[in-house]
Amino acid sequence: MRESSARTMDQHTPWHLACVVCDAIYPGLELRYRCECSGTLDVIHDLSKCELTKEKLDLRLGSKKPLDKSGVWRFRELILPLPEETLEQIAATRGEGSTHLYETQTVAQKIGLENLWLKHAGENPTGSFKDRGMTVGMTLAKHIGMTSVACASTGNTSASMASYAALSGLNGIVFIPEGKIAYGKLSQALAYGAKTIQIEGDFDDAMALVQEICNSEGIYLVNSINPFRIEGQKAIGFEILQDLGWNVPDWIVLPGGNLGNNTAISKGILELYEIGIIDTLPRLAVIQAEGANPLFTAWNGGGEMNPIKAETIASAIKIGSPVSWRKSMRGLHALKGVVTEVSDDQIMDAKAIVDAAGIGAEPASCATVAGIRRLVSEGVIKSDETVVGILTGHLLKDPKVVVNYHMNELSNINSKRANAPIRTSADIDEIRRIIRQ
Ligand code: F0G
Repeated sequence: MRESSARTMDQHTPWHLACVVCDAIYPGLELRYRCECSGTLDVIHDLSKCELTKEKLDLRLGSKKPLDKSGVWRFRELILPLPEETLEQIAATRGEGSTHLYETQTVAQKIGLENLWLKHAGENPTGSFKDRGMTVGMTLAKHIGMTSVACASTGNTSASMASYAALSGLNGIVFIPEGKIAYGKLSQALAYGAKTIQIEGDFDDAMALVQEICNSEGIYLVNSINPFRIEGQKAIGFEILQDLGWNVPDWIVLPGGNLGNNTAISKGILELYEIGIIDTLPRLAVIQAEGANPLFTAWNGGGEMNPIKAETIASAIKIGSPVSWRKSMRGLHALKGVVTEVSDDQIMDAKAIVDAAGIGAEPASCATVAGIRRLVSEGVIKSDETVVGILTGHLLKDPKVVVNYHMNELSNINSKRANAPIRTSADIDEIRRIIRQ
């Protein structure tokens, strides 16, 4: 292990940290988010000792134990293998995960597929996939004795962190780009009691500032640069496979912003493959908004990622300098991945389809469906392939964009599926006329 001045909890762990760039390794509980060379870090488990089986995992579905009821901690041996008694005492869980996998013909037909499953991560306790990562980040914060936690956010991370910090008795501090996060998310951060700092700048500015503040003030950083957040988010992939009876779909498709979630899914799936729980691999497709597409440009141009100034209606993925781009590309290579981009108009049209199917999700989530539609039309995804799309956040996270869409009040968006409210006087005959139309 490399000598380091960083704080380390003096405890042996069955995992260690490793640099994505130079392979340097660090103790499992060392308080650091980057290597000395500035590369990001991975949690490396000793998979040769992992005794998980499908049968053991399926038995836990019927258990009443809080760790088993959580759709993250059910997979604990592959996530944070602390002793069971320790986890029982400190796991900061709200029963996250165990969200619905919708089999939807309505959406499938409209985008050219025979079968489509949508895994709704917006059905987590705070309404987004972030809860899966946050339960692990917060548990680790407690385990190593931190008292304050912080994150930069386009909204969902802050909502999740604020809730889990409050539950865990930790001080939560969030850095958000002023005026640029959806009200559903801002209201959660305020309501759960986090100190909320609105930065005059965008998410990328907030992300740079929070890293500096956490290092100088001894605050625990719970953005997805924290490798334990990634460990928790792996469970989305685990749960999709368990939902499908451990049958591997042809594709898993999700939106990309800071690129933590696709990093997590590929890491987890490769680990399941290595321990023999699955014997084939799905392909991965990451979808970016056209105005926030640095991974798309780098991946398809075969080069390094260059930061851009991001702009998209899908505020959750309005990110121009994603922290996890290198890890993300590694996973894409391993899972024969593709990266595509979709316009705001395509995102909002896909959203109108997902919403009208009775499922509903926030704009960034629907980049998934817009991206699948594009990849099917280009023949990359075949119409008879099995596709699981991830919806990352709840419809109510961004109610303003929904109402404005249906009122046809969004500039540069063609509200062709608008369902505008019908204004009328309080006149019974007039109402009868409207209903019979
Ligand atoms: N979808 C939603 C709803 C999100 O909130 C995010 C990220 C993403 C997709 C992209 O996921 O960053 O792992 O590639 N939101 C972050 C936040 C950045 O601050 O809430 P990613």
